[in-house]
Amino acid sequence: MNTVIDRIHLDHRNTEQLLRIIEQETDHFDTGEFTNLPLLADLMHYFVNYPDLYHHPLEDQIFALLKRKAPALAGKVDQLYSEHVSMGEASESLQELVTELQGNAVTPRNRIVKAFRDYLRQYREHIDKEEKELIPAAAKALDNSDWIQLEKQFATNADPLFGQILQRQYQTLYKVIMAEAGK
Ligand SMILES: [Fe+2]
Repeated sequence: MNTVIDRIHLDHRNTEQLLRIIEQETDHFDTGEFTNLPLLADLMHYFVNYPDLYHHPLEDQIFALLKRKAPALAGKVDQLYSEHVSMGEASESLQELVTELQGNAVTPRNRIVKAFRDYLRQYREHIDKEEKELIPAAAKALDNSDWIQLEKQFATNADPLFGQILQRQYQTLYKVIMAEAGK
């Protein structure tokens, strides 16, 4: 039982649920159907804030230990670090795009659809690399005292969407996700 790795897996599953909702809304937008812009705004609000506040700092700590214990993986770890930064920037630019759309900005539909699909692909590839390569490598390379130290550092974090404390702005999104999970 490794609560830190469990937490990373849970974050990734939750993120995949949210990415599917972004994908549905992107498909709606692409085909000219009703697109739930407030929902997209909530999603982007989440993606701009949550990963950099909670998820990436924890992963960065795991990967820093991994890099020390398995130097052969340093290149892959550095690549993930830089993806954490570039994904944060991509989230911010999509959040701005949604704000523009809500303000009725005239932005070409195909540019918006491409931006969202590129983002979805980048996010999924990133999670895939972590789940298939780096997290299993960390599970092997790190020892018990490493995980205890990481658990302590992480104990104070709480996810506003999936944790016990639901912030008001996430309630609508939370219900959508729960409904989708009940399919
Ligand atoms: Fe991750």
